[in-house]
Amino acid sequence: MERVSDILNEPIEIRDPVKPHALRSAQPAIDSSVPGEIQFDQVWFGYKSDEFVLRDLNFTIRPGEKVALVGPTGAGKSSIIRLLCRLYDVTQGRILLDGEDIRDLPQAELRRRMAVILQDGFLFAGDVKSNITLGESYSIDQVQRAAEQTNVAKFIEQLPQGYNTQLRQRGTNLSGGQKQLLAFARAAIRNPPILVLDEATANLDVGTEAMIQEALERLLEGRTAIIIAHRLSTIRNVDRILVLKQGQLVESGSHEELVEQGGLYASLYRLQMLESE
Ligand SMILES: Nc1ncnc2c1ncn2[C@@H]1O[C@H](COP(=O)(O)OP(=O)(O)OP(=O)(O)O)[C@@H](O)[C@H]1O
Ligand SMILES: [Mg+2]
Repeated sequence: MERVSDILNEPIEIRDPVKPHALRSAQPAIDSSVPGEIQFDQVWFGYKSDEFVLRDLNFTIRPGEKVALVGPTGAGKSSIIRLLCRLYDVTQGRILLDGEDIRDLPQAELRRRMAVILQDGFLFAGDVKSNITLGESYSIDQVQRAAEQTNVAKFIEQLPQGYNTQLRQRGTNLSGGQKQLLAFARAAIRNPPILVLDEATANLDVGTEAMIQEALERLLEGRTAIIIAHRLSTIRNVDRILVLKQGQLVESGSHEELVEQGGLYASLYRLQMLESE
């Protein structure tokens, strides 16, 4: 009980600003048809105060640009995502979304602007439909359209009760690929200006991989995107690749440019080529 109440009594560090920007200005909350801009400005971050896992990150992702984050395990890729959706606050520097410091936005507003698809997407015990709507009031037509867009409709229709089929907790009755497609449908129905994807590491068969790739490309259209790719084959088409090493940005460029440079990306790429042979 003591340990539980210690946790319950922890102060909440991430809070909404007293005067949130979006509320202060009379502008409409978000326009989903316009992709967002993301800027990291001299960002430093550590989970512990004496240990930085991100060091002096500076980059801008233009509206509509698709950027991939690549780097060895522990380089800080997922940490960048956690900062962007404000699960943690930066230690130094700032992160701007369409020119506004994310600490000045109400958290609900910030999170409405982006869909985040995580390494281990979470499925709830409940039916397929509510796993896509997540409690919001979308019509069944909208659910179906999102599922079609993301290549998961055919699979759902084959289930015994279609969209009303019950899923087991954590989706243990689904394959890794199916879970990923369902997570895409969740994002598609919300139509956010920004999409963030931390790619699942699970090995997928060639057919599923192709289906996911196709659904992803459709999902990315007209949005700004950050993709953390473990399989470098998924990111051949992105506009720019940012390479991280021990929390620092060490390379940036297109796939061809980085292979040409012969640095860290080139060696990661060569390693994966060898593995897949
Ligand atoms: N909650 C946490 N508390 C303390 N340290 C953490 C926490 N999460 C991550 N770290 C540390 O921060 C560093 C960066 O981790 P991060 O998860 O961002 O790596 P990553 O690049 O996403 O790696 P992977 O490719 O394995 O997913 C690592 O050294 C990790 O051990
Ligand atoms: Mg990670």
